[in-house]
Amino acid sequence: MFEKDIEAAAEHFKRLLERQLERNERIKSQGDFTDYKKLDKIVIGVCGGDGIGPVITAQSADVLAFLLKDEVEKGKIEFKTIDGLTIENRIAHMKAIPDDVLEELKKCDVILKGPTTTPQAGDGRPNIESANVAMRKALDLFANVRPVRIPEEGIDWTFFRENTEGAYAVGSDGVNVTNEVAFDFVVTTTEGTERIARLAYNYARANGKDRVSIIQKANVIKTTDGKFLNLCKEVAKDFPEITTDEWYIDITTAKLIDPKRRKDFKVFVLPNLYGDIITDEAAEFQGGVGTAGSANIGKRYAMFEAIHGSAPRMVEEGRAKYADPCSMLRASAMLLSHIGYIEQSKALDKALDICTASGEYKITGRDDGCTCAEFGEYVKKTLRSVLNEN
Ligand code: IPM
Ligand code: MG
Repeated sequence: MFEKDIEAAAEHFKRLLERQLERNERIKSQGDFTDYKKLDKIVIGVCGGDGIGPVITAQSADVLAFLLKDEVEKGKIEFKTIDGLTIENRIAHMKAIPDDVLEELKKCDVILKGPTTTPQAGDGRPNIESANVAMRKALDLFANVRPVRIPEEGIDWTFFRENTEGAYAVGSDGVNVTNEVAFDFVVTTTEGTERIARLAYNYARANGKDRVSIIQKANVIKTTDGKFLNLCKEVAKDFPEITTDEWYIDITTAKLIDPKRRKDFKVFVLPNLYGDIITDEAAEFQGGVGTAGSANIGKRYAMFEAIHGSAPRMVEEGRAKYADPCSMLRASAMLLSHIGYIEQSKALDKALDICTASGEYKITGRDDGCTCAEFGEYVKKTLRSVLNEN
């Protein structure tokens, strides 16, 4: 009696399979990571997004321009402003990333991207795919690297969230088989897993971290999480000096709040959705999602962003100018280190530590605190003295 429904769903599934198999071939044939030292010029795209995005992105780009002034003068760095990733323009084109915007993004080497509003079913807008997710897929930014540090509590975590597969791979392309039965799909590929695992282990080795934790739910999500776990364990064999442990995602969320246990975690490698959830939890310990930056790394491109959303309510209430730029500034520090400006990156992180600890300019998101621009000026002033000390 469901023959027609099953047939339609199977057709849909067939299309998904074709696309995922093609993607798998594509990612297997990718070259090596960009060597920024070899580029004559590095183009930094600045893409404001929407909501509070343009405010905090402009402030961060200003700090980056301050730190890279000499490089810009030498012609080694070029900033490129990219408009058009607003929710209005995306809806006008009915595309997660309008074609002309994607073309501009592809002309950059690295991108600083402000938050972008993500529609959801029933919010009165066309339910187009998230611009974040679309950009990660379009530029094959397969690793989402999110550090969380609380030195006084001995916490120094780095999350390697797989960024293009898992529950997100076809997250906007599930199927309502009937009015009553809906299906989504989870995708794990060998290449997709091995490359994130290798990046996590290489990072651990290069940074003297002696433990990598593989987070999954392989006891229940047996096929895709099982594959993810097994492949990560295979990669681990090439890193015998590093202790590998395996944790289910549910108990991991609990252990992150166990003061005795949580210090032992160092590097995490995990599928997309678990990484999404747990990095918000982790950032909360550090002072909230407003304090955490995120690097989306691929072989050809890399994109740096806040881990939080576009806070449309702040804009509606006229409070956008009080938005906290810290997460974008942390992302900017990650961008600097990614393209080889280690000294500037460290200086920016240090200046941010000083500025947030001093309490001199407090950001509250309201008019009882300082504005984003005031905080940005304070960061630049602090940077001047940090750089002078060095
Ligand atoms: C993140 C965000 C995104 C995600 C949203 C905005 C689509 O929560 O970067 O963690 O789910 O990945
Ligand atoms: Mg998230």
